[in-house]
This record gives sequence, C-alpha cells and structure tokens, in this order.
Amino acid sequence: MELNNKTILIGITGGIAAYKICELIRKFKKNGANVRIVCTPNSLNFVTKLTLQNLSQNEVYIEEFDVKNWKPEHISLADEADIMVIAPATANTISKISQGIADNLLTSIACAFSKKMIIAPAMNCNMWNNPIIQENLSKLKARGIEILEPESGFLACGYLGKGRLCSLDKIFNATVECLNSSQKLKGKKVVITSGGTIEDIDPVRYISNYSSGKMGKAIADSARDMGAEVVLITTKDFEAPYKITKVKSAIDMQNALNDEFESTDILIMAAAVADYRVKNYSVQKMKKGSEDNITLELVKNPDILQGLCERKAKDSSSCIIVGFCAESENLLDNAKTKIAKKGCDFLVANDISRKDIGFSSDDNEVTILDKNGGMNKIEKASKKVIARKILEFITK
Ligand code: CTP
Repeated sequence: MELNNKTILIGITGGIAAYKICELIRKFKKNGANVRIVCTPNSLNFVTKLTLQNLSQNEVYIEEFDVKNWKPEHISLADEADIMVIAPATANTISKISQGIADNLLTSIACAFSKKMIIAPAMNCNMWNNPIIQENLSKLKARGIEILEPESGFLACGYLGKGRLCSLDKIFNATVECLNSSQKLKGKKVVITSGGTIEDIDPVRYISNYSSGKMGKAIADSARDMGAEVVLITTKDFEAPYKITKVKSAIDMQNALNDEFESTDILIMAAAVADYRVKNYSVQKMKKGSEDNITLELVKNPDILQGLCERKAKDSSSCIIVGFCAESENLLDNAKTKIAKKGCDFLVANDISRKDIGFSSDDNEVTILDKNGGMNKIEKASKKVIARKILEFITK
C-alpha cells in the first residue's frame, strides 16, 4: 500500500468542512497510513472526538497540558509524523501559524514542525479575500508550506464564492506526492534561472519579454522538495525558503551565475534572456523630438548558457547543464539546432505559440532533448508536475 510505514498528522480546526475529514482519515487508513489527529477545541463543535478516534484507531489530541508522557505532546507528535496536513484550516489558525503564535496544541505543533506541511483552507469568501489573510498565506507559502486553495461554489454560510474546502482527492494526492517524493537531490546544489531579463533604455523605458518566471520557480520548488540546496536567480519578485538572487539585465544574470557556477551540480536556465541590449543607455529620460522615426542601436548580449557550457568543458566540470528553448514555430528542428550549438546536456523545448501552455499559463507541455539525440515528450500538465518530471528525467 502506498502509505505503509507513513505517519500522517492531521490537524482539524473549527470550520464546517471538518466533517469531511472523516472520509479523508478513512482514505489514509485504507492506504496503510498511521493517522494521528490533533484538533482545536472549536473543531469539536463540528465532529466528535469519538468519531475521529474510531476512524484513526488512535488517541485524538486536543489539550496542550493534558500531559501523559515526559515529552510534551507538541514535540512528540511533531517528531513522530512524516507530514502534517491541516484541513480544514480556518482564517484564525492560518493567521496564528503565519505569526508563530502557539496558543493551543495544534498551533504549538505547527510551530515546532520542521517537515513538510500541507494546509487546506476553508472559510467564508470574504474572509478568503481579506488582504490580511492573503498576506498571511503568502508568508506560509514563502516558508515552503503547500497551500491547497479552496474551491468556488455554494458555501455553508450561504454565500456563493471561493472558500469551499478543496476536494479530498486533491488533499490525498498532494499528501501522497509529498511523502513519495524522493530525496534524490540531497547534498546537491541546483541553480535555476527564471523570468525575462530587463534591458534598460533610459530611467523610464526598457526592453523585456513576456516570461512570467513561473516555470523556473516551479523547478526551484521541486528541487527543494527533492532535498537540494537551491539558488533561484530571477528577474521576478518571489519569496521562497531557499536563496533567491534578484537580477535585472542579462549581464546581472551572467555575473550572478559566474559567482555560483563553480559549486553547482545542476544548472537549469529557464530564464528568457534578452539577446540584445541598447548600446547607449541614456542616463536622462529621452525626450520626444520632431522626428517621426527613431532608431535604437542594440548590441548583442553574451550567450550565458553557451558560455557556461564552454566553461564546463574547459574545467572538466561534472555539472549537468539544462537549457530551455521557447519557439513559436518548428519547435523540434530549432531545438535540435540549439542543443548542438549551445553544447548543453539537455534542452527543454516548449511551444509558445499555444495559448494553453507557456509564458503566463500555469500549465506547460515540453519535449526534453538530450545531447545524444534522444527525445522525451512530457504531456500537458501543471508547471509543478512538469518541473518534477524534468528533474526526475535529467537525474535518471
Ligand atoms: N540564453 C542565454 N543567453 C542568451 C540567450 C539565451 O543563456 N543571451 C539561454 C536561455 O536561458 C535558454 C537558452 O539559452 O536556456 C535558449 O534561449 P532562447 O531564447 O530560446 O534561444 P536563443 O539562443 O536566444 O536563440 P533565438 O532567440 O534565436 O531563438
């Protein structure tokens, strides 16, 4: 069974969706997991301790100072569990955890929990849309906690909107995926670039591209889940529980990469680097003259990827180098030419002419080429799934 020898600690808070968790407990149990349960006192307005105890076949914990053992409960439950799943998570509990408040057993465990945590919020749609709650959720995400967003629909409070607990299948699958994720990249340093570079024209204007940086961020998150030391070099504003180096231009990105490269085991260049920058940056804002047409002179940026592939060969480095290739036509032919020219180990090709994948989309579909001429297509999926498959493929 896929959850044999795994201990899942479920945290239940005081929302009406608490009743649904009974089914989730059954599903975890049927798949072989040892399920431990901690409830906030308010959650027992919606489910009974006896039901949870029977379903989990374990004691249910509520009170912090009901001490039966020498080791405080919040430490021993945190130590024992492989993963903590808080579902449903109310706005109140989310906010407390994001601030490090530990005023009941559940929030104390969350505060002491250093392994993977999944939070499935459920609340009234106005609470969900409250900027304070969103800010608190962003803080948790930035700490590497996975948030399974609620769904839209008819809410128990009578409103129609976003706030309904996501499906139990989603919580189950996310838990299984986390528990089964290998720690294959432990001890490895993975450097990823993301986002489009910004080439200034003057203090007001710039040249850039539509890259959202999402694919690179998803790879960085996955690499971290697989145990790697991660460095994300990006032009975007991201927060994450690993090192992020914010850069602007292609030259900045090249400098940041030169600093990291020597100790890098895997380099993934998902950034959309501008091929050219303006030759003469204007320190002052350029004024509109009487001309109807003006010409900006551009100079070529260094090909960072190609330069690092050459450095790898010169230093006889064992770093695995992966390039990306965004094309609007002749995807595979262009990709084959590019991998040969750049000299990288793998090239991830994606078709940016399709509206349903690529740039700002949350989904992607890619083909991975290797330097020996091999090709492997990864069918359309979320960038998160594609990210994991890319990492698994290149480390095979
Ligand atoms: N790249 C780079 N430095 C550049 C341009 C691109 O390191 N100056 C990297 C990108 O990060 C990507 C790969 O090279 O991993 C391919 O980028 P792409 O824009 O598809 O190719 P280009 O080399 O720019 O070729 P073209 O624009 O002609 O398609």
